[in-house]
Amino acid sequence: MLIAQISDCHIRDHGGALARLVDTTETLRRVVDHLVGLDPAPDVILATGDLTDDGTASQYATLLDVLAPIADRLLPIPGNHDECPLFREAFADLIPADVADGHCSYVVEDHPIRLVGLDNSIPGRHDGRFDAVRESWLNDVLAAGPDRPTLVFTHFPPFETGLRFMDDAGLLDADRLRSVIQRSPQVRLLVTGHLHRPIHTTIGSTLVSTCPSTGNQIGLDLHPERGAAVDEPPAYQLHRWDGERFVTHTGLVRDPASVRTISLDGFVAEIQRRVEAGEPFTK
Ligand SMILES: [Fe+2]
Ligand SMILES: [Fe+2]
Repeated sequence: MLIAQISDCHIRDHGGALARLVDTTETLRRVVDHLVGLDPAPDVILATGDLTDDGTASQYATLLDVLAPIADRLLPIPGNHDECPLFREAFADLIPADVADGHCSYVVEDHPIRLVGLDNSIPGRHDGRFDAVRESWLNDVLAAGPDRPTLVFTHFPPFETGLRFMDDAGLLDADRLRSVIQRSPQVRLLVTGHLHRPIHTTIGSTLVSTCPSTGNQIGLDLHPERGAAVDEPPAYQLHRWDGERFVTHTGLVRDPASVRTISLDGFVAEIQRRVEAGEPFTK
């Protein structure tokens, strides 16, 4: 199974420094075009929050227009920049009807991997919280499928990254979520957004990965008193499940006009020929 992930699209309709750095609507269109062209095609595409910058109706209208080519495979979850009532209205056709009470969390059972969307956003706040209500919901969901390989997708990462200003406005009660994951080895992969960078760690036996943004990234600078938004290329991730393990790839989506390519198809064909003939890979 092939699972794509996009995150932190931050569709905006106002000016300001970040808007001058990256036109997030244009970069999301470029990422969507790229995803549509992938072969093999992803079975599902997770969108892990901050899909708009302010959660307004007009930003959701733009977002839906840009995402239309991949809407048939999209599973969105809100972030701290979204507004839950409008988010749920915008994605009413995509989110299962039996969404959790009081938070926009849900489960999708129709794939080889059980997909659990966990909403840790809190209305009116920039940080998130894995509170007792969410903890109880996630415990019940995971208890219903202890032997099924599971992917949990959410907005806030439940670990310190060393990017201090992002950690300080991160997930409250993250230790509760780490404890749930630690005692749930069927959760083979936990993926998040919010960091605008690809970052990897582990919780117990679970691989944990954060997805870069389809707009601007956060600069890699671990100095505790600094922070920056940078125009590193928009990106996405591909999580490949082979029945035994997940492998996570990060793909950058530069302006096609600036990408130089040399085809290696002939080399690929030669490798395949040697494999089929049982020939050694001598130089
Ligand atoms: Fe974000
Ligand atoms: Fe965020």
